[in-house]
Amino acid sequence: MFPYVTVNLAMSADGKLSTRERRQVKISGSNDFGRVDILKAESDAIMVGIGTVIADDPSLTVKSPVLKEERLFSGKDENPVRIIVDSKARIPCEAEILHKGPGKRIIAVSKSADPKKVSELGKYADIIQAGDERVNLRNLLEKLAETGIKTLMVEGGGSLIWSLFEDGLVDEYYTCIGNVVIGGESAPTPADGTGFISEDEFTKLEIIDVEKIDEGVLLKWKVRRG
Ligand SMILES: NC(=O)c1ccc[n+]([C@@H]2O[C@H](COP(=O)([O-])OP(=O)(O)OC[C@H]3O[C@@H](n4cnc5c(N)ncnc54)[C@H](OP(=O)(O)O)[C@@H]3O)[C@@H](O)[C@H]2O)c1
Repeated sequence: MFPYVTVNLAMSADGKLSTRERRQVKISGSNDFGRVDILKAESDAIMVGIGTVIADDPSLTVKSPVLKEERLFSGKDENPVRIIVDSKARIPCEAEILHKGPGKRIIAVSKSADPKKVSELGKYADIIQAGDERVNLRNLLEKLAETGIKTLMVEGGGSLIWSLFEDGLVDEYYTCIGNVVIGGESAPTPADGTGFISEDEFTKLEIIDVEKIDEGVLLKWKVRRG
């Protein structure tokens, strides 16, 4: 009914995704970049929130020529389907993700998006409408599953990841903890949003793996159901 969702991110030793100016910074090292590239190449699709597109302008392409070849050899596009969660269709038409590298793009919008902008974005990406004011993630993920997407990697940021946890849609959660302290109470963290209040609401996790990587630690968690 839903794709299998793996959230992957890099955070500082004090649990920040970037600076208080929301500027993209290097948190992990080359071994982690390689690992993330493999995870991306193995996924049917990769998703980010519009906040990340505006802050970082990522392309989300697979970087390794070998991994691209392997995808093509197995009959897939060079890049996984790139999905942007963007209720009001705020993404600039010149965003890297809409232009760099071959492959399908999907922009998920809500009914509140400007129809003119949505129709313009239709030149660069498929559009999925889900939700009234904000993108309804359960509805979106159901629609993605219907298009054949079975595995979905989520890159961030903290607002989107929070909503995925809140809606019970995350299956695995990987954090690479880098050897830097960023600080700043308004700097983004892996799950921002409103947060849970009571302990029985908390998402419960179990450890799958702990590994020293570059100069930090990679933690892999699985969401405990029921
Ligand atoms: N270190 C890392 O691994 C990593 C990875 C990615 C990002 N980042 C950092 O994270 C920061 C961006 O994070 P962010 O929290 O500002 O943005 P975000 O999570 O990328 O995007 C949030 C936006 O998505 C839209 N959205 C639509 N439907 C939503 C829903 N149901 N739930 C939540 N959001 C929804 C909302 O805008 P609309 O309502 O207008 O649609 C919302 O403001 C940047 O600083 C970036 O550098 C770090």
